[in-house]
Amino acid sequence: MTPAGELLAAEIWRNGPIPFRRFMDVALYHPEYGYYRRVRDPFGKRGDFFTAEQIQPVFGILMAARIRELYREMGEPREFTVVEVGAGRGEMAEAFAAWNYVAVDIDLGAMPENFTGVVFSNEFFDALPVDAAVYQNGAFHEQRVAMADGVFRWHTGEVVGANADRYLRRYYLPPEEGRWYEVNLEAVAWLERMAAALTKGYVLSVDYGFTRAESVRFPAGTLMGYRRHTAREDVLSDAGLRDITAHVNFTALQESGAACGFTTVRFETLAQTLLAAGEPDQFAAALGAGGAAEELRRRMQLKTLLFGMGETFRVLLQKKTEGREGGEHRREKP
Ligand SMILES: C[S@@+](CC[C@H](N)C(=O)[O-])C[C@H]1O[C@@H](n2cnc3c(N)ncnc32)[C@H](O)[C@@H]1O
Repeated sequence: MTPAGELLAAEIWRNGPIPFRRFMDVALYHPEYGYYRRVRDPFGKRGDFFTAEQIQPVFGILMAARIRELYREMGEPREFTVVEVGAGRGEMAEAFAAWNYVAVDIDLGAMPENFTGVVFSNEFFDALPVDAAVYQNGAFHEQRVAMADGVFRWHTGEVVGANADRYLRRYYLPPEEGRWYEVNLEAVAWLERMAAALTKGYVLSVDYGFTRAESVRFPAGTLMGYRRHTAREDVLSDAGLRDITAHVNFTALQESGAACGFTTVRFETLAQTLLAAGEPDQFAAALGAGGAAEELRRRMQLKTLLFGMGETFRVLLQKKTEGREGGEHRREKP
């Protein structure tokens, strides 16, 4: 068993089956044994997965062009900060260097207070620990993690708490018997944090996921584990050695965002965002500079971004419309 697995097994031994959120939190973020905290780098060719953000410089140049447009729309404020949450290896530092760039990750940076600008993220919300639930006998039940014969197993627990129940009824289609769901209360809490920190500006989130209407496509939920570029639905094995993700419920981001002062400006595919960002100069800034070999490399990057990832990933742009100075800040728990 892995070291993270041993810690989890001991906890289950002491307390009985644990919430999946706890399992995912230890498996990904335990200070020593968590997947994102180990010495081994999970990103890139020799790691387990690629993110769009690692496709540099093209991704960075085009996202910076998109943010520049927002900066201009806001009248080019003198103080403009771009905060990246879940910044990982800080791949965007160079692209966002024109502004005050703050990288936030676990053990890195902190969300500034009262700033004007943009909160950017790429594959951040899908990495937050979620609860899992199944709809059974007319109620949502927690899917906990137990141990049997030395391996982790799913265990259907009690009816979910009030916050999770509200989340599930609000942001999914009406429940159906036997379906699995995820509850991302952390995502809602992060949006509230962003709303409190942003005086004026935008939240620009790149991720993969679904809307309420599309949730019908995932009767078994969306939990996935990634190791060495192979996706597996078994998320309970190799705790700490594989990435675990849950698709983002974009309806939850939009509607819980609306409750804390954000309006949705655009919700589109990554390909649409990148095409719009590259259109004014026909991708000259993204593809130019350097010789023919460099241009070819960048063309391949653009192709991967547009055709490999462009339709899978989506971009949600939310605008802060209510400030703490400007009227009531409606706070709502999911
Ligand atoms: C899938 S990675 C994406 C990294 C990077 N944005 C990219 O696209 O390559 C998710 C990142 O979110 C970070 N993260 C998860 N929970 C966090 C939290 N509570 N606060 C800050 N960062 C967090 C992880 O440490 C990890 O670096």
